[in-house]
Amino acid sequence: MVIRSLNLETVCGITSKLPENEHPEIAFAGKSNVGKSSLINALMNRKSFARISATPGKTQTINFYNINEELYLVDLPGYGYAKVSEQEKAKWGQLIERYLHGSEQLKAVFLLIDIRHDPSANDKLMYSWIVEQGFNPIIIATKLDKIKRSQVQKQIKAIRQGLNLLPGTIVIPFSSVTKQGRDEIWELVETEFME
Ligand code: GTP
Ligand code: MG
Repeated sequence: MVIRSLNLETVCGITSKLPENEHPEIAFAGKSNVGKSSLINALMNRKSFARISATPGKTQTINFYNINEELYLVDLPGYGYAKVSEQEKAKWGQLIERYLHGSEQLKAVFLLIDIRHDPSANDKLMYSWIVEQGFNPIIIATKLDKIKRSQVQKQIKAIRQGLNLLPGTIVIPFSSVTKQGRDEIWELVETEFME
């Protein structure tokens, strides 16, 4: 994908009206700190266009990145951030659900799981939420650079089993450090989800 233009076009908080976009949207979900914003930066060939931080809970809004005036990459707020109140968590959940349920242009949902860890209860909940909304999520196993190559297949199997993935579900190992997996993700987006 050749990036000709980039624009953080819309930022939605819990009380915001969601945009009615004219181009396909591709959303990225996953627990806080899993690497959603880093992945979006890697896809956009930018170091820090989408904000990244060492402290989780950074992205608390739904951010719509307009790519080439033809596609949106959608950064969803991370879930499972312990320091946030229950009430706040519930509101984020509602925002995410409202978006998954309501967007006319949402074509694909990528669910990010840290390749080092078995899926959490929240990951399982998010996966079933996405499936219930009629999407067949694509799983990105993030932070690939943090494990030995010999561990990769074992961890991917643990993710498949932990989430009880539907047969045929795609799992793509990815690292925002080495950029491994980036071309595969763009290939999939361009062939499957763009007009
Ligand atoms: P929230 O916005 O809090 O939901 O987090 P996020 O999912 O957007 O995570 P973010 O991209 O901000 O990354 C969190 C931390 O993990 C940062 O310190 C990143 O540098 C680091 N990180 C993300 N992806 C990778 C990766 O592939 N490899 C390594 N080694 N570190 C990564
Ligand atoms: Mg983020």
